[in-house]
Amino acid sequence: MRTVFWEDNQVKMIDQRVLPARFEVVAYSDHKSVARAITDMVVRGAPAIGATAAFGLALAGFESASTSTGDLLADLRAAASTLKASRPTAVNLAWAVDRVMNKVSSLQSPSADSLRQFILDEAQRIADEDVEINKRMAEHGAALINDGDTIIHHCNTGALAAVDWGTALGVIRTAHEQGKKIHVLVDETRPRLQGARLTAWELQQYGIPFEIISDNTAGYFLKAGKAQKCFVGSDRTAANGDVANKIGTYMLALAAKDNDVPFYPVVPTSTIDLSLSHGDQIPIEERDPEEVLGLEFKGERVTPKNAKARNIAFDVTPNRLITAIVTENGIAYPPYEKSLRRLVLGE
Ligand code: MRU
Repeated sequence: MRTVFWEDNQVKMIDQRVLPARFEVVAYSDHKSVARAITDMVVRGAPAIGATAAFGLALAGFESASTSTGDLLADLRAAASTLKASRPTAVNLAWAVDRVMNKVSSLQSPSADSLRQFILDEAQRIADEDVEINKRMAEHGAALINDGDTIIHHCNTGALAAVDWGTALGVIRTAHEQGKKIHVLVDETRPRLQGARLTAWELQQYGIPFEIISDNTAGYFLKAGKAQKCFVGSDRTAANGDVANKIGTYMLALAAKDNDVPFYPVVPTSTIDLSLSHGDQIPIEERDPEEVLGLEFKGERVTPKNAKARNIAFDVTPNRLITAIVTENGIAYPPYEKSLRRLVLGE
């Protein structure tokens, strides 16, 4: 089953807040609820939220009672800005919404109803293409994995983070299907535990051997020579190859570099933002401190009452720590200013 899909005039998605305890699919009939689902991380992962926002825009079209194309376009523009504001770091969100809106603007005098159908078709195309792109990326990335490798993976970048298959975890899955024996060390990924909850759940489904480690354990395995590669995703990659990804990625990359372990972000070209020259320009989401403070151990809250916390959701890994960047169009090596432009624009 896909992570997000359109069925019975609704946007449906796997509720990632309750996995692995429960597998539930939730349905939304209006774009504001879809935007809230993205903010609340019912659905998460850069490619998944891009496709979800595109389907949200399709809902906005059907929600609008406007009979004139002009009025419908005004409603769509308002919905587009609501959806784009739902999370700031992953550029796929704006990329998907802008792709639909740009195509809509280029249509020659469409009727309101044909516009509604066009948006739904385009959202479906984005979703279908995502799966195909992930599989191409996975083929390129799997060539970097050797039989017997132990791989450290951060956050969740699997089928749940995309429409299907996934980015970095998709690479691992393809290498496994090619018959390579792989072991995955799964960073639990505080504070929302996407690794311990979602990546571990996915690896179990695929039959890939893994062990969950607390995030601060990765350095131990890297220094001991017990991990041969690190694979991660990205929410936004700047033109110079700086990579914004789930908080903790930067520390993992530092420890990998210090121990000469290759570090590979796996990045669809929709995640590359060539308008930003370097990673410090990437907007970084800060979330509710309660996600850090509310952690329970043996049924008790671990933090003292009235304690304060910071909950920075992403960090930027500078390009000097990155061995290569895997995209669906091939693998980019330094200098990334040139190699990424070539893979994104064909220059
Ligand atoms: O906050 P999340 O769970 O949406 O963060 C997800 C990640 O950081 C992933 O690594 C990223 O989206 C790229 S993988 C598809």
